[in-house]
Amino acid sequence: MKNISITNRKIEHVEICLYENVEFGSTLFDDVTLIHQSLPGFSLADVNTTTNFLGKKMSAPIIITGMTGGLPELGKINETIAEVIEELGLGMGVGSQRIAIEKKETKETFSIVRKKAPNSPIIANLGAPQFVKGYSLEQVEEAIQMIEADAIAIHFNSAQEVFQPEGEPNYSIEILYKLIDISKSLKVPIIIKESGSGLSMEITKMFYENGIKYFDTSGTGGTSWVSVEMYRGLRRNNWKAESAKLFLDWGIPTAASIVEVRSIAQDGTIIGSGGVRNGLEVAKAIALGADIGGFALPALKAAVKGKESLMNFLKKVIFELKVAMFLSGNKTIGELKKTPIVIGKELRNWLDSRGINLSYYDSVRKRRV
Ligand code: FNR
Repeated sequence: MKNISITNRKIEHVEICLYENVEFGSTLFDDVTLIHQSLPGFSLADVNTTTNFLGKKMSAPIIITGMTGGLPELGKINETIAEVIEELGLGMGVGSQRIAIEKKETKETFSIVRKKAPNSPIIANLGAPQFVKGYSLEQVEEAIQMIEADAIAIHFNSAQEVFQPEGEPNYSIEILYKLIDISKSLKVPIIIKESGSGLSMEITKMFYENGIKYFDTSGTGGTSWVSVEMYRGLRRNNWKAESAKLFLDWGIPTAASIVEVRSIAQDGTIIGSGGVRNGLEVAKAIALGADIGGFALPALKAAVKGKESLMNFLKKVIFELKVAMFLSGNKTIGELKKTPIVIGKELRNWLDSRGINLSYYDSVRKRRV
């Protein structure tokens, strides 16, 4: 695959995400209820959303997950996001840096992020399939240094690779061994990140038992990468596009994925993402088991309209998170992690089928600091 075609694909991905309906499936956040407490014992203004992430203090447990970079227009999106998260005290990831590793002149579209957000948690990004094609510690360190990252997310996108007209769905077990090996030499953590199909208990266990403690669920109910590749396939009359329709909502709903990951990675750090669309859902994600809520598509849609639009979107999210905390009587994020919740039928059935005992899980959830 020539580099220029990676660049074209990146532009097409952003364009499809902006102009087509790419959201499928359910997060199952509707099956999570925080309990209303009539007398919180403090005022809305007293709610404290600050948290620590990757050794840095954040004003609220919110990041924009990795999306883009590689072309000037895409670098501009990264720049806008970086300026806004720095101003608000949040965090962000960049999109896959493979393009910059293979085409050095595109580095600036990523490194701009650290220039604009010198104090924020910033996450580097590479794709898991690259580790069966020769990537090693060297490329991981290069990606981290490029943006002086506080962590590197390795994204898993098997569903996308299957339906990508030019995709290479090679997910050999070598990826696991290589990442474990690399993690031992790195100064910053590796984050095992899905990209819309959700992390399971089984996959979490493979990494967690080998010392990798950061996970980004990216479950279903938000951007479906099967759908993005379906649209690309339809434009090219690709025979796989028809089959993609069967798999539009393939994966683990975000709420279920958060519980699956936390039930294994009990002292891990979890980004709850995939279809998170407002501050109430950030609160639900954290109460369920996540430490941080992550947004991609809504942040992209706001960022292309400019800094003010993204700023307004994120201020609204923070307000909604504060309201959810106020009304459920939780003054701090630490308290929110232990707050009582009610789990509805579908999510309850999911957890039951997966052998996760609810009262045991409640004790896991409440043991978090
Ligand atoms: C993404 N996502 C992504 N993830 C990743 O790890 N590396 C990447 O390069 C990209 N690229 C990318 C481009 C665009 C345009 C979007 C919208 C998303 C996936 C993203 O981080 C997230 O996991 C999913 O999109 C699910 O979250 P939302 O969109 O439902 O909030």
